[in-house]
Amino acid sequence: MRRPALAAAAAALVIAAGSAVPAAAQAWPTAPASNNAELISQLFWFTLILASVVFVLVEGLLIYSSLRFRRRAVLPAREPPQIHGNTRLEVMWATVPALILVGLFGITVTRLGEINQIPSDPNAMHIAVTGQQFQWTFQYADTGVQSTNDLHLPVGVPLIFDVTSKDVIHSFWVPDLYGKIDANPGRINHITFTVRQEGTFRGVCAELCGAGHAGMLFQVEAVTPDEFQQWIQQMQSGGPPPAAGSGGNDADQGKALIGQQPCGTCHVIPGVPGASGQVGPNLAGVASRKTIAGGAVPNNGPDDLKRWIMNPPGVKPSTAMPNYNLTDDQATKIVAYLETLK
Ligand code: CUA
Repeated sequence: MRRPALAAAAAALVIAAGSAVPAAAQAWPTAPASNNAELISQLFWFTLILASVVFVLVEGLLIYSSLRFRRRAVLPAREPPQIHGNTRLEVMWATVPALILVGLFGITVTRLGEINQIPSDPNAMHIAVTGQQFQWTFQYADTGVQSTNDLHLPVGVPLIFDVTSKDVIHSFWVPDLYGKIDANPGRINHITFTVRQEGTFRGVCAELCGAGHAGMLFQVEAVTPDEFQQWIQQMQSGGPPPAAGSGGNDADQGKALIGQQPCGTCHVIPGVPGASGQVGPNLAGVASRKTIAGGAVPNNGPDDLKRWIMNPPGVKPSTAMPNYNLTDDQATKIVAYLETLK
């Protein structure tokens, strides 16, 4: 009874693979959102259709032969006539697959050359991508702006990503925009693409890099070049200031609490003097983010933020942010301040 066991193992594998791949906003093969994703998608469909034709042909012949030449009567006691090979058929089934493979290889290599072509366009923008256990940091050309787990991209501008790592091997992957590229320590890998449509896309780390690997997510916001410039300027000026007087008394007390806690050694926190750390994400606009904790937690309101800061390692295992054992009251007030950072 090995078959049921095999089937169960196969089903478990399929389920495991399914849950490891996060659901994208769109399915990339049908809705590629960049020029190079389009090239990859075309190759995917071409290969899939070709493979499907071969599959149907081979399985069809197999089923036809099994039915057409099945045993119809009791076999004679003597040995059936012995036949050997068919040269024409054998040459055919060796040559045709070989030609298909060589053809696919040629098309793939040509495509690889095309998508790896670093544009010489003077308007192209470099973005430095650094992976580390367990977050992504992005630096935008020479603007001095840096963001963590939150990648902003202008639509229609050729982008060149310089990808590296601070510790172990990670893999930078936004399925809707490009294939995967390894982030290796001590080496810079380059990829390039031009985003074609505005939208929010999900990015992941695609290389098992430690206990926090599954939570090493990031969000991509593709906006118009004007909106992108506005965002850059906003970040250069320290982010949008907290709305004056918003959040009430709790927020004021929260701001004072942040000053007493070590938050500012890791984070830039607009409005809080001395909070200029570069280790963790810049908290400018944190209240308007759709996710927190590197994409591991949806940010649907103050309760999510509070749950996160009260016990970060409990929410995202192996996160760099320690548990500072904030009391419920402290966390409520800190979150009240953070909620003013829209
Ligand atoms: Cu970084 Cu997986």
